[in-house]
Amino acid sequence: MALPVKLDSTSRTLADLGVSLPDRITALFADLRAEFDREAVGVRDESSWRVFRDAWLGRKSGVLTRVSDNWLKPATPALKRAVGAALNELRAHVEATVQARRTALDDLAAQVAAGRDRVDLSLPGVHRPVGSAHLITQTFREIERIFLSLGYSVVEGPEIETPYYNFEALNIPEHHPARDTMDTFYIAPPPVGAAPPGLLLRTHTSPMQIHTMETQQPPVRIIVPGKVYRRDNPDATHSFMFHQIEGLAVDTDITFCDFKGTIDYLVKQFFGPTVRTRLRPSYFPFTEPSAEVDASCTACDGAGCRVCKFSGWIELFGAGMVDPAVYGFVNYDAKRLSGFAFGLGIDRFAMLKYGMHDIQVLFQNDARFLRQFR
Ligand code: PHE
Repeated sequence: MALPVKLDSTSRTLADLGVSLPDRITALFADLRAEFDREAVGVRDESSWRVFRDAWLGRKSGVLTRVSDNWLKPATPALKRAVGAALNELRAHVEATVQARRTALDDLAAQVAAGRDRVDLSLPGVHRPVGSAHLITQTFREIERIFLSLGYSVVEGPEIETPYYNFEALNIPEHHPARDTMDTFYIAPPPVGAAPPGLLLRTHTSPMQIHTMETQQPPVRIIVPGKVYRRDNPDATHSFMFHQIEGLAVDTDITFCDFKGTIDYLVKQFFGPTVRTRLRPSYFPFTEPSAEVDASCTACDGAGCRVCKFSGWIELFGAGMVDPAVYGFVNYDAKRLSGFAFGLGIDRFAMLKYGMHDIQVLFQNDARFLRQFR
């Protein structure tokens, strides 16, 4: 490849090149300019632009510096004017073009970036599925709403309890047979032969009856939603963890009628206005009298079917009037006060309302099942 004219001619003086007449000057500069314009076209990115700029404008060894040093400075007085004028003209052209190439490159880069960042409004959006509350949470909220409308407050309590709150203060002393139905998980077993009690997972929400009455004077109207635990083997109707809502109302003039009316209102609100309730005698150490609340079968409306084992009734939950012995544990005046309490199984309520036969599906987290209850 032939040496470009700029490398060749500009490193020599005009005398060396044999130039002595002004008209040859014009041709020399025209060649340089043509070479420059050719190179300018080849500048495609920032790094080649830098090489290009330095080759022509570099102070030490750029083409224009060489022209100035080799052509202009040693030129004869006869040529100096023409060389100076031509050099100025070339310099103006080179500077303007180098700057223009830079501007063009910047514009191009901005265009490319804008194209990359452009939002395509025709693309499908990011689909974020909207979740919903678990059926158990929904059932909690529904029952809370019913009791809030009756003037009750919602309180929560610890899942880890002492035997005193879970049993003793509820009138279930250590060797009471009622403890057999409420075996639980012990977190800190009582040290052998020592007095301090262990910690256990509560078997019911009833301990909150005690906590509430210890800290609050009547009138008391509370419900307590929460998790409870029992040492049960899982099957269609048992789970080692399930959910309850405790209810407690204590005041100076609460009667069995209030108890019945409240229970009936709750059941009708939750299961529907045609559902009837009945009370069957039962036993809990912390209520007297105690009752098992039944509802007319939600599947057959009391006619008798497989769901209600052809009895027309379904057992719903345990309840009763607060046993005066319990007031003794919380320093309430048993002569002046009366009240009722109940413990609803939330899982059972949800299963009955929606016709489910296996409690385990509530805890398996299969979204296909859970999605049905949005
Ligand atoms: N705590 C009892 C249970 O879990 C239910 C209950 C609560 C009964 C309140 C009477 C009064 O079995």
